[in-house]
Amino acid sequence: MPIKAVVLFLVCLPALVLAYWAITRMLGGRPVMEAIYHSGLWAIRLLTISLAITPLAAVLALPRLLLVRRMVGVAAMAYALLHLSLYVIDENFRLGFVASEILHRFYLTIGFVTLLGLVTLGATSTDAALRRLGANWKRLHRLAYGLILLAALHYFLQTKANVSEAVMLTGFVVWLLAWRAAPAGAQRSAWIAAPLLVLATAATMAIEFAWYATMTRIDPWRVLAVNETLRYGLRPAHIVALAGAAVLALALTRRHLLPRLV
Ligand code: HEM
Repeated sequence: MPIKAVVLFLVCLPALVLAYWAITRMLGGRPVMEAIYHSGLWAIRLLTISLAITPLAAVLALPRLLLVRRMVGVAAMAYALLHLSLYVIDENFRLGFVASEILHRFYLTIGFVTLLGLVTLGATSTDAALRRLGANWKRLHRLAYGLILLAALHYFLQTKANVSEAVMLTGFVVWLLAWRAAPAGAQRSAWIAAPLLVLATAATMAIEFAWYATMTRIDPWRVLAVNETLRYGLRPAHIVALAGAAVLALALTRRHLLPRLV
């Protein structure tokens, strides 16, 4: 199945690049910490992509995308497990200390709960588990939406200076959650991508505003105003808007123009 082979290669690529950087000593002064950072980023990115597959398959009328949903979800779990293993290595395998840190540091507790959830979903992703759980499988795997919110919170709390990618990912998650909340008929319409684009873009700006207003001394109104210009490069809301517009354009082209042209 070429699509499966391509996606398998793509999900392994960040790990291969990370291994290459590690072997060639390109990970800087604190290589394990750098690897923790990259593995965490890929865990949350892949989790977001895995949740985007069902909505995109419906809106773009591309059911073949569903073939790779499980693989991307399991890859997210694998990167999260690598992330924890690297953390244990960074703490010199002092498992008692790691456990106490997870218990006492809120952002680590959240990360751990997210990881437990991901492992549960991964363990119930086999064909046998799917058959055994029947309708309950779908219900259980809705847990992934709660997990992405927890992972985003872990990301926000941990990220040091730049929250842009966390803000952007959360904007995408709003798009996904809003699609999930829509009635079944609307979920399959190409036009649903229009309100979702507006909602996700507005939510991205609101999340960024709320973060700067509550967690920093930076004036949130100035951060909000930066969205009016491209002078400072693409802001998270711009990227969410562009991605939303791309989905809308693709959905309309594929569903409305192509049948008329053929
Ligand atoms: C037991 C579970 C976990 C532990 C102990 C843990 C620990 C850590 C630590 C120590 C860092 C800081 C790295 C640094 O300073 O650069 C970090 C960052 C991060 N973690 Fe986790 N984590 C866990 C679970 C997860 C999970 C499940 C995800 C995503 C699905 C995740 C996503 C991230 C991300 C995106 C960052 C980067 C934040 C930044 O920009 O610095 N983590 N984590």
